[in-house]
Amino acid sequence: MADLSVDFVGIKAPNPFWLASAPPTDKAYNVERAFRAGWGGVVWKTLGEDPPVVNVSGPRYGAIHGPDRRVIGFNNIELITDRPLEVNLREIKEVKRKWRDRAMVVSLMVPCTEESWKAILARVEETEADGVELNFGCPHGMSERGMGSAVGQVPEYVEMVARWCKQHTRMPVIVKLTPNVGDIRKPAEAAKRGGADAVSLINTVNSIMHVDLDAMSPWPHTGGKGTHGGMCGPAVKPIALNMTAEIARSEVTRGMPISGIGGIETWKDAAEFMALGAGTVQVCTAAMVYGFKIVEEMKSGLSDWMDQKGYSRVSDFVGRAVPNVTDWQYLNLDYAVKASIDQDACIKCGRCHIACEDTSHQAITNMVDGVRKFEVIEEECVGCNLCAVVCPVENCITMVPLENEVDKRTGRMVDGSYRNWTQHPNNPMAKEPVAYDTDAALEPAE
Ligand SMILES: Cc1cc2nc3c(=O)[nH]c(=O)nc-3n(C[C@H](O)[C@H](O)[C@H](O)COP(=O)(O)O)c2cc1C
Ligand code: SF4
Ligand code: SF4
Repeated sequence: MADLSVDFVGIKAPNPFWLASAPPTDKAYNVERAFRAGWGGVVWKTLGEDPPVVNVSGPRYGAIHGPDRRVIGFNNIELITDRPLEVNLREIKEVKRKWRDRAMVVSLMVPCTEESWKAILARVEETEADGVELNFGCPHGMSERGMGSAVGQVPEYVEMVARWCKQHTRMPVIVKLTPNVGDIRKPAEAAKRGGADAVSLINTVNSIMHVDLDAMSPWPHTGGKGTHGGMCGPAVKPIALNMTAEIARSEVTRGMPISGIGGIETWKDAAEFMALGAGTVQVCTAAMVYGFKIVEEMKSGLSDWMDQKGYSRVSDFVGRAVPNVTDWQYLNLDYAVKASIDQDACIKCGRCHIACEDTSHQAITNMVDGVRKFEVIEEECVGCNLCAVVCPVENCITMVPLENEVDKRTGRMVDGSYRNWTQHPNNPMAKEPVAYDTDAALEPAE
């Protein structure tokens, strides 16, 4: 059976599934329930200086639901912990003593002065926690006070605070990044320059979830006024995966440990982050929506998949997909696929035809010989896969690569050759254009 244990910047845990800093990790009661359920670690809800912040006493959450009421996107206008520092520190110490084998990381956010960071780090060290995570990500409330994403959006501040923290603690320092930036590599590089041991990402995405058209106010609202909040949940996973990959493949930050966060609900979501370079993953929304027991499926699913693939430990596949992430200009323009419809599975709903006919390439029939039939016209199909996206029957439409055959649309032989945009004759900037060998031999399509 696969070994799920991890050693992340010296922090050991029985599995890579950690709870992200948020309400599920706000107090001993929750964290102990989580550990009993099997979570490998937690990042304690962000601590700040006393007196504690004050949250609104009203709706703090907004959501985008799918047609089946599944929560696809979730947002919040909560702040960091609103419990006294002393209480949190005492509970962290008690829980860590009881659960020695689990990772206990403490999230922190204090004003941007060296004294503030030095003081809180000393107090966290006394709890015997395994590490700290610097919350440079929260996009609402705290950022207006010069903390959270107000720090994370300025690489110089990220570097400065990371450096202070490394100077004033022996604990590993993880910098949690905000996605509300133009280029995620910049704050990650700054964290590295500051000496941080790792980065975690993403925190929440700035958002207004809905407008209440009766109240004429953003939802959630407090007495008729609303504010932007931070969005998370499955809808942000693609953003988080891309940012994880950008850091994992950047020349400057390559190899820097990453804790992946954003929309993780299943073992497969987690494995995707890990394939893109994350050594551990963190979960918030899925735990809030479905409860702590989801970790059971995560552990068994990951373990079964690793057994199937022959990976005996997590590090065997962490980062494996990174070499296959490239820039658009290096994609093979000589590769080609065609859509193929499984006529037995097709329920003749016509959605593929309408999508392709109205908005794409007019490459799917709706009538053949006077009979309702959906067939791909290979002479027109560009292989864009819109039809497969809209088809309600899973795997009814598949994309089939051409191999050693003529593409009926272009009239060109597809023979496994490789030519990217930097080599393409249509690119005026191409230094050494590579022409098709077969161009002269083949008739272009009508
Ligand atoms: C209600 C709520 C409160 C949160 N509070 C914090 C916090 O105090 N500190 C922090 O670093 N991140 C906080 N987050 C962000 C999460 O830790 C996490 O980065 C984000 O939700 C993305 O993960 P998810 O898609 O699994 O929810 C909070 C998220 C939610 C939903
Ligand atoms: S792959 Fe694109 S072009 Fe081809 S049939 Fe489907 S929608 Fe049309
Ligand atoms: S969308 Fe799918 S099921 Fe509907 S007609 Fe097209 S192939 Fe058939």
